[in-house]
Amino acid sequence: MKKIITCLTISASFLILFSCNDNNKLTEVVEVPLPTKEEKITIGSPDEVKAEPGSFGLLKLPFSYDALAPEIRSLTLETHYSKHYVSYTNNLNKEIVSTEFENMPIEDILKKLDLNNAKLRQNAGGYYNHTMYFNLLTPKEQTPQDTLAGSINKEFGSFNNLTNQFKGQATKQFGSGWVWLVVDKLGKLQVTTTENQDNPLMRNALVPGTPILGIDLWEHAYYLDYQNRKGSYIDAFYKHINWEKVNENYIEALKKVRKV
Ligand SMILES: [Fe+2]
Repeated sequence: MKKIITCLTISASFLILFSCNDNNKLTEVVEVPLPTKEEKITIGSPDEVKAEPGSFGLLKLPFSYDALAPEIRSLTLETHYSKHYVSYTNNLNKEIVSTEFENMPIEDILKKLDLNNAKLRQNAGGYYNHTMYFNLLTPKEQTPQDTLAGSINKEFGSFNNLTNQFKGQATKQFGSGWVWLVVDKLGKLQVTTTENQDNPLMRNALVPGTPILGIDLWEHAYYLDYQNRKGSYIDAFYKHINWEKVNENYIEALKKVRKV
């Protein structure tokens, strides 16, 4: 049986891996080129990122790409914001040109769209979901305050209970999707999930309601930092929730319920 011993030697431009057998004789050599100077990764600024002209624009990221490190590192945040979010935004804008949706608020598009329209479903959901996601991150750890804190205690028993439920559902979510804290049609707080880029505002929602907080569970949100350790990413995200803004979302969502 081949003993797995790896000998490492670094030359000027190659990482050379030697696999050795039981007699310590070299059996194979694999050369892995190291990144050149030109290939060094450069992290830009969120202010430089622009969507193509269209009905919807990007949320301005309210902090720099390295503001959430070490929990969520700059490369993850830059890729997520400047590649994935931009792509959903541009594709949504293309899909709605010269349609009934062109001048409609995104919430109404999500409520009215035909679920068989896969491109609109994916990109309208992707746009709304990511806008909320980036808007609700913050560098400093917070806890719920004010109206929301009172309702969490009343409806979940404690903030700790809500945390366990939210993190539990996020951990159990299989494949790409989101876990949400929503205000349902009766004004109650509920934790729920959606698949892919679906959203609780859509007609197929398990728990229809207005989202006030959402965690992105697509691998692109965490793979560079955590690979398969999704639980570590969920903990990291939870440390960076802007509960002050979640409280604002909660108050707005309650107003809508009371108007109906
Ligand atoms: Fe994402």
